[in-house]
Amino acid sequence: MSQNVLDGSVAIKEQIDRDKLPRHIAIIMDGNGRWAKKQGAMRIFGHHHGIKAVREAVEGCGEIGIRFLTLYTFSTENWNRPKIEVDGIMQLLAKTIHEEVPRLHENNVRLKVIGDRDSLPKRARQKLEDAIDYTKDNTGLTLCLALSYSGKWDIIQAAKSIARQIKNNELAIEDINEEMFGSLLSTEETPDVDLMIRTGGDHRISNYLLWQSAYAELLFMDDIFWPEFDREHLFEAVYTFQQRERRFGKTGEQVK
Ligand code: FPP
Repeated sequence: MSQNVLDGSVAIKEQIDRDKLPRHIAIIMDGNGRWAKKQGAMRIFGHHHGIKAVREAVEGCGEIGIRFLTLYTFSTENWNRPKIEVDGIMQLLAKTIHEEVPRLHENNVRLKVIGDRDSLPKRARQKLEDAIDYTKDNTGLTLCLALSYSGKWDIIQAAKSIARQIKNNELAIEDINEEMFGSLLSTEETPDVDLMIRTGGDHRISNYLLWQSAYAELLFMDDIFWPEFDREHLFEAVYTFQQRERRFGKTGEQVK
C-alpha cells in the first residue's frame, strides 16, 4: 500500500501507521454556536451537541492508541461571553462529567484538567476533582480538559513559580532551561503537542497551548463545525499528519 495516497477502498483507520502516531493531539472545538444557529437554535444547543463529538474524539483516540488528547473546553477569554452562555456551559460540564465518568473508566481513560480551576463554579470543580481521582490509575488515553485555560496564563504561572523558587533560594537562574520550564507548565510531564486540530473554519490558535505547540502540525478542518466531528474525521486528521514531513528546523535531507 502506498504511504502517500489515500486508498479509497480501504477504511482510513486501516491506513493509519500505528508506529507513527502523534503522541499528543490537541483540539480547538470550534463552531458550536454557528452550528446551532444553522439549525435555528440557541448557541447552547450547539454545546450540547458538542458532547457527542467529544465522545467520538475520545473513543476514536482509544481505538487507534493515541496516548494524550487535550480539548480546549473553555478559554480564559470565554468568561467574557454572555452570562447565560457561560452558566449553560458550566452546567453542561458538571452534568457531562458526572454522566460520562463510568464510560471513561470502562475505556481505561485517565481524566486531567489544566487551567485556573479555582475560577470554576464549585459544583463543576467538585465533579471534576471526583472524576480525576476516580480515573487516576487508568493507563489508556489521558484526556485533558483545558478549562479556564489560556497559553499566556500557563506561561505566567510557570514564571511565577520560578520567581518564588529563586526568591526562596531553591533555584539558581543558571538552572532555568526548557525542560524545567516545561515541567512547571500545567501540562507537566505530558509530551508536546504533535497535532493540533481546529474545526469551524478559523485559522488561529487562540491562546491555546502556546509553549507546548511550538512544533505542532496544524490542521484546520474548515468544512465542519465541532458538533459534526466524528471518529472518521479524527482518523483522517491522523492520516494527514502522517503524510507531513516534520523537520524541527533541520533540512529535508537530514530528516529523510
Ligand atoms: C467553541 O464553539 C466551543 C466552546 C467555547 C465550548 C466547547 C464546549 C463543549 C463542546 C462542551 C464540552 C464539555 C466537555 C465535558 C468536554 P463556539 O461557541 O465558539 O462556536 P462559534 O465559533 O460558532 O460561535
